[in-house]
Amino acid sequence: MSTKRISDAMEKALNDQMTREAFQAQVYLSYASWAEVNSFSGIANFLYKHMNEEREHMFKILKYINDRGGETKIEAIGAPPENPSDIKDCLEKILQHEVDNSAEIDKLVNQAHEEKDWATFSFTQWFVKEQIEEESLINGLLDKYTLASEQKEGNANYYELDKDLNKAPQSAEIPREEKL
Ligand SMILES: [Fe+2]
Ligand SMILES: [Fe+2]
Repeated sequence: MSTKRISDAMEKALNDQMTREAFQAQVYLSYASWAEVNSFSGIANFLYKHMNEEREHMFKILKYINDRGGETKIEAIGAPPENPSDIKDCLEKILQHEVDNSAEIDKLVNQAHEEKDWATFSFTQWFVKEQIEEESLINGLLDKYTLASEQKEGNANYYELDKDLNKAPQSAEIPREEKL
């Protein structure tokens, strides 16, 4: 067992966040199953994959706590909320879950800063970045939903056009930040 390098308060805060990530996975799992039952197989696949991402987040935090000489406590996960009423509701709800989760990550960052726990501060930066990506991804899906449905009049094929443009061959790749 290694020397404990995080405070008791930080250990608890990280543990709570780990449980929240597990809860996020439950939410995605339940929404994925709902989408599948309602024949939206593409959305179901997206949500199933995202469920796994949330579990990876959970595991990342578990490892960090244990690696820093703390001890992870596996706790009960709350039941997921009721099924969404439709696809729009589903996307809006997962966006809200992500926004709420980002606020919790920010609290962890603040706590690390206050405690001058620079290792945890550095660790939480990965999550800050991840939340930016996830919010942006789901906002993009909501935009696509709007193009595909509400703005159909007069913009009839924007959604198809968008999909086609995405597949159009280009000689150069989009410049992207290197994945860590
Ligand atoms: Fe997450
Ligand atoms: Fe997430």
